[in-house]
Amino acid sequence: MSTPDDLWAQAGDIFDAWGLSEIPFTESAVELGQKQLRQLFTGRENELRQVFNLVRGRERKRIFVYGWVGIGKTAFLREIIGVLERKAPKTLASYISLLPGMDLSTAALIGLARKLPKDDYAQHLLTQMGLPASQRAVEKKTTVKAGLSGSGVETTEETSPFSRPLYPAASFEALLDRAYQKFDRIVIGIDDLEKRNPDLIRQMLRDEQGLLKSNAWFFLTGHPATITHDILARELGLFDLALELKPLDQTTSYRMLVNYLNSVRPKEKQRDYDELQAVWPFTQDTARELCARSEGIPRMLNRLGSYVLLKAAELGAPMITPDVFQAGVEFADQQLRGQSGLTIEEMYILELVLDKGVLSDESVTLEELDKVRTKEFREILPILDNLVQRDLLKRLPSERATEYAPSPLVRIPKSDPPV
Ligand SMILES: Nc1ncnc2c1ncn2[C@@H]1O[C@H](COP(=O)(O)OP(=O)(O)OP(=O)(O)O)[C@@H](O)[C@H]1O
Ligand SMILES: [Mg+2]
Repeated sequence: MSTPDDLWAQAGDIFDAWGLSEIPFTESAVELGQKQLRQLFTGRENELRQVFNLVRGRERKRIFVYGWVGIGKTAFLREIIGVLERKAPKTLASYISLLPGMDLSTAALIGLARKLPKDDYAQHLLTQMGLPASQRAVEKKTTVKAGLSGSGVETTEETSPFSRPLYPAASFEALLDRAYQKFDRIVIGIDDLEKRNPDLIRQMLRDEQGLLKSNAWFFLTGHPATITHDILARELGLFDLALELKPLDQTTSYRMLVNYLNSVRPKEKQRDYDELQAVWPFTQDTARELCARSEGIPRMLNRLGSYVLLKAAELGAPMITPDVFQAGVEFADQQLRGQSGLTIEEMYILELVLDKGVLSDESVTLEELDKVRTKEFREILPILDNLVQRDLLKRLPSERATEYAPSPLVRIPKSDPPV
């Protein structure tokens, strides 16, 4: 019988055989450090070129980056911000994800303040909102307080009640003026606009026109489904460029896989794209199968890659042969469908989409809607979108209709029925 220590050593053996220190895949680009992202980031040359050409101009721009769930919006935005931070002189570039309940001005304000660690006003705003201020600001405040000891004028950091700024847009403008004394260009990237419902987003953009027309550059990201084209084109004319991130082609997906594998190889074992061993422990065939199944969606490649390696480790397989790959695909399907926390309605709708192949307003029947106590297709959209967030379904990239299909992770090719 194996002891836990033996099992740990065995797990190490298989990773040694693969030449990998760990499983390299990640679900979200938020989890990656700037250095890691720089090593992993692949492709999107045309889109980057477009953005960087714009950024070289003097006039500030507002750029909207959109694409389906898991397509790489966060990775793209963070990479742009990273390049600007590293390369663009006198440029302040900041990334922030829009949290539920947060308005755009507050997000912009926090993003900007975080990049101004030496600015007392910026740090004061952060502290007021209950966010960590830079060490320097805290130290400085402590010293000042000590100097005024007994005067009763200063309140301490710890006891001041947290509050939102009353006029975040005005605070942002004031901070922007201060920041422009030191920088020539200020770029604020606000990610995750899509996690709101479309009406809220429309209202938010309408309310925050002043912010978007301020003297900062803005990058915003969202889904094509929620940020409908009328907002972009007709309604407000708020954006100078709307950039769609499309699925990656197979060559780029393959290179992305190599980059991920290289990121967990010792330096001397890192491979070039054209080396046959570049995708090891995948074979050429299974690497291409992984790319094909992921359909150019980076998150799918990451998730499926991760499930395949986990299964291979469990099987003790030194190489990902087609059989091991298939076992990984089945494992992914099992794990994803067996996710805890799916409601009965979600399970029913998932089965329905798996059964039909594609579910849309056209193909759903009244009887099916009735099963989840609804009367119209749009009432089940939140259920469908929730299943998309869990990578169980994907929304088909059609702008005319709202159509859902199983994600590549839960679509095991059915074996032929017995004759
Ligand atoms: N160009 C790329 N190069 C390398 N890895 C990428 C690239 N684009 C995305 N990824 C990886 O794919 C995964 C999903 O990407 P990301 O989190 O950026 O998607 P997203 O579009 O922001 O998703 P969501 O819609 O859920 O916000 C992450 O692990 C990310 O690092
Ligand atoms: Mg994202």
